[in-house]
Amino acid sequence: MTDDDLTAIAARYGTPTYVYDLDGVEAQVTRLRAAFPGADVHYAVKANANGALLRFLASLGLGAEALTTGELERAVRAGFPPERILLGGPGHTPALVKRAAEVGVGLVSLDGEGAWRIWREARAPDTRFLIRVNPGFDPRTHEHLATAAPHAKFGIPRAKAMALAEEVAATRRLAGFHVHAGSMIAEVEVARLVVEALSPLYDRFPDLDTVDVGGGFAVPDAPLEAFAEHFLPFARARGLRLVIEPGRFLVADAGTLLTRVLHVKHGALRHVIADAGMADLLRPALYGAHHPVRVLPTEGAATAPAAAPAASVPTPAVPIPATPTSAIPTTAVPTDVDGPLCENADRLARHVDLPDVAPGDLLAVGRAGAYGFAMASNYASSLRPAEVVSRKGEARLARRRETPEDLWRLEDEAQRSS
Ligand SMILES: Cc1ncc(COP(=O)(O)O)c(C=O)c1O
Repeated sequence: MTDDDLTAIAARYGTPTYVYDLDGVEAQVTRLRAAFPGADVHYAVKANANGALLRFLASLGLGAEALTTGELERAVRAGFPPERILLGGPGHTPALVKRAAEVGVGLVSLDGEGAWRIWREARAPDTRFLIRVNPGFDPRTHEHLATAAPHAKFGIPRAKAMALAEEVAATRRLAGFHVHAGSMIAEVEVARLVVEALSPLYDRFPDLDTVDVGGGFAVPDAPLEAFAEHFLPFARARGLRLVIEPGRFLVADAGTLLTRVLHVKHGALRHVIADAGMADLLRPALYGAHHPVRVLPTEGAATAPAAAPAASVPTPAVPIPATPTSAIPTTAVPTDVDGPLCENADRLARHVDLPDVAPGDLLAVGRAGAYGFAMASNYASSLRPAEVVSRKGEARLARRRETPEDLWRLEDEAQRSS
């Protein structure tokens, strides 16, 4: 997708809007399959659960990794075959177990003995189990993302995992073990540590047929091939199906958040106040995550939109500056790109290098396809952004922008039914 395409999308659908480039997603799937030939790829739905995106990934033959009832239903609805759905997560309710068993999910990752107590009572003849192990090492990533850490709530310490495995294996439904070390994993040493943690478990249970080494590949440049050098030989030597569960790696770079400059304020820093913030993209506020921000060409320079915006998708009437911002030199003024809410943490980017911008200028916040809309909220009664997908040069609305009526629809329903 070109910057002019993004400008045309903003003109047509307004801002803030997420845009997902499905060609980019497909390219990542191809990269991943080349690095892990024969692996069973289960897309981690939590990264981005947009229905159009899920249908696209299902059409490419991927499986899904789901952890809530909502993700399970979305995966089924998007066309992932039940046997290609893996249910994970640390909190399985009886209702979720009942529904997953009814759907006939292929694999369940047991994060603790509590989940097994519910599952062993369920009628789920088609479901097999993985036991999620807490390997207890530092996966060298942000603390919020370090699921392998010994103090993390995830998985079961190795000795207890062995005991649970005995119990599940007795029902002949133990498929293997699972380690998801964390997210934004960039160091190859982590893959070595995962294999080191798994080896004694497979020594003890040599008849298993599956190993799940999780997701978490860093963007933009996880050393996939080097990770594969640890995982593939381990799986091959033991005759195991290798399952991987990437989310971010498949969709982060293909997503852009389009936002418009509302105001520019000069103080100790230059504050560029945009119409998107922490309610639309939480990661900078939550993790101090860095997203590249750039200025897009103005509408006049872009391809004219094909049609007027849909009535349900309000386009803010923000004046468009006459000067193409690409012609304006970069200033050395330290700049924060902030959101419109009354929170200090309401920020898209900190200390960025941005040219002079004016109200109405269009910004592209990059690498926003993962954990972007997925973490968006109605905080401060913000309306969640529109989502657009683009495939082979054609952009289309995949989810309309929320309207104020969406905010109170469920309250109205409750009132009507009480
Ligand atoms: C169990 C599990 N698998 C896969 C993922 C996907 O991680 P990522 O999007 O970093 O690839 C997560 C992320 O939280 C996870 O908890």
